[in-house]
Amino acid sequence: MGLGYHSDDELERSTDRWMLVGGILLVAMALVFPFYRLYEPGGRAEARAGQAAALAEEGQTVWQYNCASCHGLAGEGGVGPALNSKQFLQSSTDAQMRTLISVGIPGSQMSAFSLDHGGPLTSEQIRSVVAHVRAWEPDAPDVPTWRDMVGP
Ligand code: HEC
Repeated sequence: MGLGYHSDDELERSTDRWMLVGGILLVAMALVFPFYRLYEPGGRAEARAGQAAALAEEGQTVWQYNCASCHGLAGEGGVGPALNSKQFLQSSTDAQMRTLISVGIPGSQMSAFSLDHGGPLTSEQIRSVVAHVRAWEPDAPDVPTWRDMVGP
């Protein structure tokens, strides 16, 4: 019987030890979590910014090969309107641009660019070229007559 009590004591001591370890771990996690939360949103914002930059860079290539001949290398306009215009950029959303580029403007030189409408670009490439155009906005010049630049 004495032996039984003895091992119960040991079991109890061992259980106490593990509960203590568990308790310490719990406290450690509770202490670390707020720091994790503090750090993590920054990491995500950074990742998002990186993605946007990569998209705009891909868009630059798409722009050079598919759009620059009519809209100008820097979007200054030519046969097509000046899309680097502050007035244009402020008046159209990304979604509107994506749709317009996908389906084109019937009866004009602005053809449909999406694969769905017989064009050469994937929806990812169209997203990227819109990101490229949007990236002009912070330095966009005043061109209220951007639409008049449509050539013959
Ligand atoms: C062959 C010449 C040509 C090419 C190439 C071309 N465009 Fe255009 N684009 C035009 C013309 C012309 C218009 C104006 C059409 C109209 O309003 O009658 C236009 C209009 C637009 C508009 C609409 C502006 C508005 O009125 O809101 C956008 C956006 C646009 N183009 C983007 C692009 C992008 C992006 C590309 C490349 C993927 C591209 N264009 C390639 C000629 C071109």
